[in-house]
Amino acid sequence: MKSTQFEASGFQDLDSAHHVGPSTLQRLVAAWPRRATIRTDMASFMASGDSGSDPADYPVHLIPFAEHPRFLEASTESRQLVNTLAWQAYNARVIAAEEHVANPTFEMLAHGVFPGIDRHEAKEAVQQSHIDEVWHTYMHMTAMQRTKEARKLSVEPDYSHPITNRRLFELTAGRSEKWERDILFLVWTVVGELHINNFLELLAHDKTIQPMHSLVARLHARDEAAHGPIVAEILKDVFVHLNKEQRELFIDTLPAAIKALGAQDYGIWSDILEFVGVAGATEILADTRTLPGTEMMLTDFSTVHRLIQDLEIEDRVEYDFSSTSPQRSGQAAK
Ligand SMILES: [Fe+2]
Ligand SMILES: [Fe+2]
Repeated sequence: MKSTQFEASGFQDLDSAHHVGPSTLQRLVAAWPRRATIRTDMASFMASGDSGSDPADYPVHLIPFAEHPRFLEASTESRQLVNTLAWQAYNARVIAAEEHVANPTFEMLAHGVFPGIDRHEAKEAVQQSHIDEVWHTYMHMTAMQRTKEARKLSVEPDYSHPITNRRLFELTAGRSEKWERDILFLVWTVVGELHINNFLELLAHDKTIQPMHSLVARLHARDEAAHGPIVAEILKDVFVHLNKEQRELFIDTLPAAIKALGAQDYGIWSDILEFVGVAGATEILADTRTLPGTEMMLTDFSTVHRLIQDLEIEDRVEYDFSSTSPQRSGQAAK
C-alpha cells in the first residue's frame, strides 16, 4: 500500500501492511468518524455535477484499443459514446463487486461465518467498511445517473455482470459445499479490497476527465486506503483459524482471483463497440488482444503479494508476482 494513500486517510505513519498490528486496527477504527467520506464529503459530492461538456468521461489512454486504426476511423461522436459507456461500465463493475461480492462477505464476517473475528475492533472495522461500501455504491450509481442525464443516454448496454463477478460465479457454481463458496467469496473480497485502489488512483488524479468523475474516484480511494490494511489485518486473524481444507482452497483460488480482478473485460468492450456500431469491432478487439499485456487492466498486485508473504504462503501461491508493477500493462497496446 502506498504511503500516499495512508496520508490521504490521515495515517501518515503507516507505509506498509507489515506495520499494521492490533493497535493500528484500533486507530483505524477510532479515526473512522473523522475519516469516512460518507461523513466528510457527502455534501460536496451531492452538490457536484456532470457538466456534459468537453472533458472526457473516462481516460482515453485506459481504453486498450484507443489507438487502433479502425477505431480511429470511427466518427468523433461514436468514439465519444464509447468513452462515455466505458465510464458507465467501470462504475457498474465497481458496484457489482461491492453489492454482490464485498458486501455479502462483510456480512459473513459480521455474522461469524468465518472464525477468528473475536476482537471488538475487528467487528467494528467490518461494520464500518460495510457502511463505506454501501455509500460507494450510492456514489457510483449517482455518478452513472448524472452521466446518463448529461449525455442524454436513453438506452445503454447491459454492463451489470462484469468479468470479476462472472469468473467468481463460474467457480462457485462448481462447488457443492457452502463453506467452499464462502471461501471463494472471501478470496475475491480480500484481493479486491487490497487491489481496488490501484485503479481508482489512476482516475482520481486524471485531469482529462470530468471533475465529478475524478472526485468520485478520489473519495472512494480515500476510504479504500483504510480498507486495504483493515482487510489484511482481519484476514490474518481468520486465516490462522481456518482448517486445512479451507486454507488449501484459499491458497489455490488466489491466482484466479488476482487474474479476474485485474482483467480487462473484453466481453463488455465487445458489447459497447457493437452497441455504438463501431465498424470492425471484432477485428479491433482481436488485434488488441494479440498485443502483450492487454489481458489485464492493471498488474500491480504488490499489496496482495505482501499479505501472502505475511501469511507465509508465498511459496504455495501459483502466481508470478515478478510481473507486479505499478505500470499499467495495457500501455503495451499503444
Ligand atoms: Fe468501496
Ligand atoms: Fe472497500
